[in-house]
Amino acid sequence: MANLSIRNLDDAIRDELRLRAARNGRSVEDEVRVILREASQGGHMSAAGLPQEPAAETTAPAPNPREILRQHGGSQPKVTLIIGGGIAAYKSLDLIRRIKERGIHVRVVLTQAAQKFVTALAASALSNERAYTDLFDPQSEFDAGHIRLARECDLVVVAPATADLMAKMANGHADDLASAILLASNKPILIAPAMNPLMWSNAATKRNVAQLQRDGIRMIGPNAGEMAERNEAGTGRMAEPLEIAEAANALLRPQRPQPLKGKRVLITAGPTQEPIDPVRYIANRSSGKQGYAIADAARAAGADVILVSGPVELDEPVSVNVKHVESARDMLTAVEAALPVDIAIFAAAVADWRVVNEGAQKLKKKAGEAMAPLQLTENPDILATISKLETNRPPLVIGFAAETEHLIDNATAKIKRKGCDWIVANDVSPATGIMGGDSNTVNLLTRDKATGDIAVDSWAPMSKEDVAATLVARIASATAKDTA
Ligand code: C5P
Repeated sequence: MANLSIRNLDDAIRDELRLRAARNGRSVEDEVRVILREASQGGHMSAAGLPQEPAAETTAPAPNPREILRQHGGSQPKVTLIIGGGIAAYKSLDLIRRIKERGIHVRVVLTQAAQKFVTALAASALSNERAYTDLFDPQSEFDAGHIRLARECDLVVVAPATADLMAKMANGHADDLASAILLASNKPILIAPAMNPLMWSNAATKRNVAQLQRDGIRMIGPNAGEMAERNEAGTGRMAEPLEIAEAANALLRPQRPQPLKGKRVLITAGPTQEPIDPVRYIANRSSGKQGYAIADAARAAGADVILVSGPVELDEPVSVNVKHVESARDMLTAVEAALPVDIAIFAAAVADWRVVNEGAQKLKKKAGEAMAPLQLTENPDILATISKLETNRPPLVIGFAAETEHLIDNATAKIKRKGCDWIVANDVSPATGIMGGDSNTVNLLTRDKATGDIAVDSWAPMSKEDVAATLVARIASATAKDTA
């Protein structure tokens, strides 16, 4: 079907259609296409006769809780980025990418003048969202679009902020989408001025800058240097996209205390895979979620984190040095290479055995013949090896104990046998859903270095992220005591 027309529809349907399109950030035509597709797959009808939109929880992509926690202590921060009409607008396309790299959602608005330098199409392709351009756009204004763009975000960024846009802001104009958003916004606003040095030093601009500062508008740049115009130099260059993205990030995520700053933390996570032949292996059901959450929490606490990970289906945590390994022996090698560290946390589910008679070629089955038995030998115990090191033993070594019965007794025996300082013990009976699940119920066993006494602290059930945050807080207070 080449074209769609929405004329000749009754008002109720047309209104609902526009509302749906505005809500989903699609054109009305695209919305009709989606609706037709849904209808052909058999959906429910709304009162107006359109297929009902699926409930939000079924349409929204499944949020990754670890990612969310990392990003905004609960939800992904959102920026409305207004691109003004100056030559620096081309850099704002890179800015979209830089902001997104920091886990921040970006919605782009372009002024009329900005569209002379960059297209709405490029901005929407980079932001993965519809880019907005018109105050009187029936699709977005139907749903009070400029108010939503102004309010449904955590920060408004204007880059480049031209002399004209700044003058409009300083004087409260609202005659286009960008200025209407800026006037309607109740969110912090960060502007990145960019203009010719003569315009920047003009008395009118100086007055506007002073007014904007009094109004609480944050500013980054302009920088000094070569201008786009030939033989022009001075102050007026837009700050670099990286600087602007960092400034936006700092406003959205004010520095939290960093109790592990300066500490090197080593974490193992995930299962190991022990090869049987080039295509088969022995593994276990560990998802790696708990270890990855600890890596995230330690990094958020300011630690320098090395994560030695077995094969998992998880995104690498940001700003963490990740070493990917497969077998237990590879994991031990990577752990030894990471030493010395201040704290080592062994959350990996390391296979206890590996195959000795590993096939150099794929083992072939022969009709009527049983498979040659696999000969297994014990893997190195990484936790015990590191706990018993004479030199380079980390001052705090923490193991995990996943048990299906006699949890505390087994964990107590394990802390002694392995020689570690703490053990995080959890019941992984299938009924608990802990293995591969998102929550955990743990007991922290801590051994007093002087007396050898073991204390048990039982934590309430909580998410794996909260277990990670609580464990990191305990580590922070223990290391603070040790260094006091
Ligand atoms: O003996 P078990 O496997 O229950 O011990 C669990 C703890 O020991 C976990 O911290 C795990 O990471 C660690 N471990 C290890 N190397 C092994 C086996 C377990 O580091 N080969």
